[in-house]
Amino acid sequence: MVWLRPITVSLWTLVCCLAATAVANPSAQQIARSLRQRLSSGSEVYVLSQGNYTAEITQRWNAFEPPTYVIAVKPRLETDVQYAQRNCVPFMATGGGHGYTTTTSQLDNGIDIDLGFFNSVNVDAANNLMTIGGSVRFSQVFDPLYNVGKEIATGSCSCVGMVGATLGGGIGPLQGVRGLIIDALVSVRIVTGTGEIVTASKTQNSDLFWGIRGAGANFGIVTSATYRVSDQTNGGNVVIMDVSFAAEKNASVFNLLDSLVRNGQPGEFSIGFGAVWDPNAGAPVISLSSFYFGPESAAAAYNQPFLDLGPTVQRVQTVPWNKLISTMRFGGDTQACIKGRLQSVYGSNLYSFDPANFQRTFADMSDFFAANPNLRNSMFVAELFPPANTVTVPDGETAYPFRNTTAYSLFQFALPDPSYQPTVDAFAVPARRAYAAGGGNPNVEVYVNYAHGDEGVNAWYSPRKLGRLRGLKNRWDPHNLFSFTNGINPPRRN
Ligand SMILES: Cc1cc2nc3c(=O)[nH]c(=O)nc-3n(C[C@H](O)[C@H](O)[C@H](O)COP(=O)(O)OP(=O)(O)OC[C@H]3O[C@@H](n4cnc5c(N)ncnc54)[C@H](O)[C@@H]3O)c2cc1C
Ligand SMILES: *[C@@H]1O[C@H](CO)[C@@H](O)[C@H](O)[C@H]1NC(C)=O
Ligand SMILES: *[C@@H]1O[C@H](CO)[C@@H](O)[C@H](O)[C@H]1NC(C)=O
Ligand SMILES: *[C@@H]1O[C@H](CO)[C@@H](O)[C@H](O)[C@H]1NC(C)=O
Repeated sequence: MVWLRPITVSLWTLVCCLAATAVANPSAQQIARSLRQRLSSGSEVYVLSQGNYTAEITQRWNAFEPPTYVIAVKPRLETDVQYAQRNCVPFMATGGGHGYTTTTSQLDNGIDIDLGFFNSVNVDAANNLMTIGGSVRFSQVFDPLYNVGKEIATGSCSCVGMVGATLGGGIGPLQGVRGLIIDALVSVRIVTGTGEIVTASKTQNSDLFWGIRGAGANFGIVTSATYRVSDQTNGGNVVIMDVSFAAEKNASVFNLLDSLVRNGQPGEFSIGFGAVWDPNAGAPVISLSSFYFGPESAAAAYNQPFLDLGPTVQRVQTVPWNKLISTMRFGGDTQACIKGRLQSVYGSNLYSFDPANFQRTFADMSDFFAANPNLRNSMFVAELFPPANTVTVPDGETAYPFRNTTAYSLFQFALPDPSYQPTVDAFAVPARRAYAAGGGNPNVEVYVNYAHGDEGVNAWYSPRKLGRLRGLKNRWDPHNLFSFTNGINPPRRN
């Protein structure tokens, strides 16, 4: 049985936790026993073989290249998080469980520090503040904010951890109006790699706060985060347009998007679109959704040119913003949130919109679908979240390096089984490179939360930021405990 296997404790982990009981080769059972003795009574400890492990512990969205765990801990208090971090065994925090980078596979036989008990949402409408626990999903903040007339920028899927997304920057449909999610972040409580429990904000540990906003998975576990919230735009109503275009319309769609970007996409108007396989048509289609945070009459001016292209399906409706995510993309949120599949995702940024680049990428995807019938659940996605607002915050203000991104993009492959990996990689690596280069990004820079894991530190954090980030690493995580998610420093090898 898995948990009876001794866990190899390397020298460096022993060095970093000499204070803990130094058993040479502790079994999972021994570690679990020691954790149960030391953690507060409300905490929970599970070994992998326990029947209730999967029911009680947050499962991962991605089953491809996952970390492996022998124990999961659900700490109740910040001091429990602190203790769980210093157990001579590598660990990772789980917030919403939607991290998908392949670098996490370097964590073997570790401890999953599941933040499931850090799950509260408190809105202070009078002061325009919201404080949430480290594992709160986007879905949990929609109604509490909407019901008091407030809003905040969120991601595009309900199931993703809000803090987890924030740590990388946080992008989504309201970004053009409210900026990145980090731009609404006021402070965090964090248990750092040094074991300190501190507040980080613009006035307290401001250097750490700088690093958390863009490289936040590298320094510690955030138990709670406080955000500034705003009065609702347009009375809380958003106009959604969902349309689907036949493949032969691809050039017209990309030309229209090009003219939109060139003429200055307004902050209120966001677009996400994908090249997906339509089993009914037996062909690839372009599925596109737009969101306009303003009155229907104003939205029409932007939506009508798309409707004029003659989509095969169209739906325009106005919904309250707390229903935006569940409604948009023809209701695709439920599908996007399904956990436990083998997903290989290759992201990249675009800094310019060249319709020829999109035509070629669409042709590449079409060829891929034609050649690989078993991989037709895959897709190419681009998100045009207008950067005008995002770039009003100076680049030096936060660690996040890609404020001037025109389109956040990804190739997402759903693998029926791991044997498809070589086929996917052989297509995805050159397709990603060509696509990025065609959009002013020859180095394949990528929003760190969209990264595949093979891009490297320059592409995730930018050479502009790395010097300062490494300094912060030395100060707040000198033993490199937080290294498994696109780490500033790679994990040490056991
Ligand atoms: C279906 C889907 C949709 C997505 N949509 C968006 C989107 O619209 N916008 C966007 O910006 N991103 C989006 N992402 C990417 C997302 O931001 C990252 O995957 C993010 O890491 C997920 O956080 P999580 O808490 O859900 O995941 P987890 O797997 O729990 O965590 C991912 C990483 O973040 C760390 N982490 C999580 N919570 C904490 C915490 N409280 N303290 C310290 N470290 C923590 C974990 O240790 C791990 O290293 C999406 C991802 C998926 C799979
Ligand atoms: C999980 O199951 C074990 C027995 O396998 C039991 O002792 C424990 O109380 C259960 N924990 C929870 C939180 O249900
Ligand atoms: C995309 O549009 C171009 C130009 O109209 C066309 O030649 C091509 O066939 C289209 N692609 C597909 C897959 O239909
Ligand atoms: C984006 O902004 C950064 C920081 O200001 C700058 O260094 C970089 O050259 C810009 N990239 C593009 C493509 O404009």
